[in-house]
Amino acid sequence: MKKLIFQTVILGVIVLSNGIAGEKIVIAHRGASGYLPEHSMETKAVSYVMGADYIEQDLVLTKDNRLVVLHDIFLDRVTNVADIFPDRKRSDGRYYVIDFTLAEIKQLDMTERYKIKNGKRVAVYLNRFPLGKSSFKVHTFEEEIELIQGMNKSFGKNVGLYPEIKSPAFHHAEGKDIALISLKILKKYGYDTRNSKIYFQCFEAKELKRIKNELFNQLSMNIPLVLLLPGSNKKKYAVLHNGEKFLLNEYNWDSENINYTEISEYADGIGPSYNSLVARDSQLEQIKITPMVSEAHKAGLVVHPYTFRSDKLPQYAASFDQLLFIFYFMVDIDGIFTDFPDKAVDFLNSFSNHTHK
Ligand code: G3P
Ligand code: CA
Repeated sequence: MKKLIFQTVILGVIVLSNGIAGEKIVIAHRGASGYLPEHSMETKAVSYVMGADYIEQDLVLTKDNRLVVLHDIFLDRVTNVADIFPDRKRSDGRYYVIDFTLAEIKQLDMTERYKIKNGKRVAVYLNRFPLGKSSFKVHTFEEEIELIQGMNKSFGKNVGLYPEIKSPAFHHAEGKDIALISLKILKKYGYDTRNSKIYFQCFEAKELKRIKNELFNQLSMNIPLVLLLPGSNKKKYAVLHNGEKFLLNEYNWDSENINYTEISEYADGIGPSYNSLVARDSQLEQIKITPMVSEAHKAGLVVHPYTFRSDKLPQYAASFDQLLFIFYFMVDIDGIFTDFPDKAVDFLNSFSNHTHK
């Protein structure tokens, strides 16, 4: 019954959406991370071939001011750092990227994301690439840009970058300017105008405003910016700075009271959790859509929610295609971050004329 009602809705919206699918984008979240370890070069190449429109890079600075492509400011959930440098943890037991040089980080093996359970490493996603198999390494931002630009040349395409600077306030506290270093690299590689195939993202509004109002002038550049918004259930946690607790500065949002017009003065889009757009207790027959997308669109902002995973569906969607349909066509988002870019590309291609921007 559920399926029947949903298919009826689909038929209605297909008619409305015919031709619109071509304007929707697919962002490879940490690469094709549903298939290969997140942020490995291998997963980036696979996501490229799968047809993603943009490929995401999370960025963190090393001790010697090199940008590496890693999601965490720590090394200890995707590498064997604890085996190779057991004495280099801070007093909270974590191994901070910022305490290691690039040469040291290059000595590590990278693997599928894991958590520690009863002292053992356990994969976060049990049906993904196995832990500790094959050989993956951490790479720099420049190495990844050259991979994507190289593939753009050899494939005759123009796949975009979607870099995120991680925890700029923490980097500032440690005496490092991650935004400035990232933008200089982007400018060097030709990403410096509004037409460059890039979105530059950050969870910290203060840093995005600094980028828009100060750094762009200083560097004579101007690229599209996206403000990330934390999910309402995102846990606050502190990291260590000079032996003291330092609260990461990305939780200062009350999703009920967001001023989209103010955001549009420094950003081109928002990146919310998809749970901010559809109530978690929705049913397939009754998808409860929040006003966030329509209000953001009214302010001229694109909306690129995260993170769509076919191996972790919300209770109101029985399949990944259903989830994609709800968000692309009912919620009317402009693009998605997904660990499974092939599935989103196939989905969009099945609707009329999806073409890559
Ligand atoms: O940047 C979009 C999305 O990646 C945000 O979540 O924690 O995976 O960086 P996270
Ligand atoms: Ca990210």
